[in-house]
Amino acid sequence: MKITIGADHIGYELKQQITAYLTNLGYDVIDVGTTSPERTDYPLQAQQVAKLIQSKEVPNGILICGTGIGMSIAANKYRGIRAAVVSEPYSAQFSKEHNNANVLCFGARVVDYDTAVTLVDAWRLASYEGERHNKRLDLISASETKEQR
Ligand code: RB5
Repeated sequence: MKITIGADHIGYELKQQITAYLTNLGYDVIDVGTTSPERTDYPLQAQQVAKLIQSKEVPNGILICGTGIGMSIAANKYRGIRAAVVSEPYSAQFSKEHNNANVLCFGARVVDYDTAVTLVDAWRLASYEGERHNKRLDLISASETKEQR
């Protein structure tokens, strides 16, 4: 049970809390920072989480900024990354079941700790359904080819 997590300064505190939550559940959490509430730039942590997933060191990651939007935009620039920004558990669950989201993003200015836990749980406990969704994910992967970029 390995997972990576990253946040900017806005998401820092919530990252610490979610890291503790996952560690208590037995996860080996690779925290890419940030390491303090000092101002930073979210693409930096998004890149580190994306690279860990691309290298297959970890299967999944969590990214937290103010809204989750910047993190998701940045993470989705990396081949093979499927980052979903969510604020309620239904979408978190289906982001895994239908979209096989390997990165969950949310905003520390949007959700509180209890809501964040429901998002993380809905996503981490869900399973990708495959079947008809494989074709759709393949189409997304095809748009990552050189010809499409
Ligand atoms: C930082 O001010 C803020 O822009 C960032 O945390 C995030 O919300 C970006 O999407």
